[in-house]
Amino acid sequence: MLVLGIETSCDETAAAVVDDGRRILAQSVRGQNAEHGRFGGIVPEVAARAHVEVLDGLIARSLAEAGIGLAEIDAVAATAGPGLIGGVMVGLVTAKALAAAAGRKLIAVNHLEGHALSARLSDDVAFPYLLLLVSGGHCQLLEVQGVGRYRRLGGTIDDAAGECFDKGARLLGLGYPGGPAIERAALAGDPRRFALPRPLKGRPGCDFSFSGLKTALRHAVAGLGRAPAPAETANLAAALQAAIVEVMVDRVRQATRLAPAARTLVVAGGVAANRALRAALAETARASGLGFVAPPVSLCTDNAAMIAWAGIERLRLGLVDRLDVPARARWPLDELAA
Ligand code: KG4
Ligand code: ZN
Repeated sequence: MLVLGIETSCDETAAAVVDDGRRILAQSVRGQNAEHGRFGGIVPEVAARAHVEVLDGLIARSLAEAGIGLAEIDAVAATAGPGLIGGVMVGLVTAKALAAAAGRKLIAVNHLEGHALSARLSDDVAFPYLLLLVSGGHCQLLEVQGVGRYRRLGGTIDDAAGECFDKGARLLGLGYPGGPAIERAALAGDPRRFALPRPLKGRPGCDFSFSGLKTALRHAVAGLGRAPAPAETANLAAALQAAIVEVMVDRVRQATRLAPAARTLVVAGGVAANRALRAALAETARASGLGFVAPPVSLCTDNAAMIAWAGIERLRLGLVDRLDVPARARWPLDELAA
């Protein structure tokens, strides 16, 4: 089984070809940091236009790299939501056109399901597993029981973790995207020089909250009375990262109690690229007697291989879509179960 995957829901344009033997035959991703960097965040309209300009070329390149033509694929899988609707439409309509023209099947993939199943592409993880899904737009804990079967255990009540990294970086003048910038700056910092809160730590359930942390960081910067010196910026970045990691570990511990059947802890989404977070979660899993899987960074940040893989998992179950399937800005993962 060969599936062409397309991803355009945020600020990465991506295409990939994946087979049912868990092999990625081709994968290309084009980011839009150059387009959005000067705004300090993603501008939806700019993102949609950039997808239009590069998607065709990325698809052609992926097929060429895989050494196949459209006639050899079984299906085209594209992200149909959730995400920035202009971008989602670019990818989904392109997938519909290719599927219709080549007479192939169409699979409308939930972007979050792509992230959720990425650990099965990289590591063949068995169901059920505990998933910490942390990206720029999402922050949730789920029990992954099977394809299309997700039990939401908790989520953020305000900002996503990636958003907290991004806004924190902007406050510290570290640029966009913020996560990698904070991680880099934190390497030279001491996380104990500034005391930041650990929102919801120790509370029942496993929800998250990050807006108070962002405010506390702003107060810490304002308290200096001037722009932070490089050493202070490093300390603030380290303090922010430490607070986020500590909260995540606490929430994951809670989640392990809520999903006792899970044998593995999986972390996915762009924030899963963070090394401090990976190390802390690996230790948490070990202490809880769980296996730990963090897919390679190229499968954690937005990519089309995970969308193609989700397509393969759905195709195996006969879950294909019609050409009139809609693009959706909002599409909660636990709704797939219904
Ligand atoms: O999954 P993703 O590529 O796009 C979304 O679906 O949101 O995630 C992007 C998010 C951004 O907020 C970015 O700052 C964050 O992932 N991120 C990181 C790191 N690399 C990317 N956060 C912390 N540490 C990193 N190394
Ligand atoms: Zn994502």
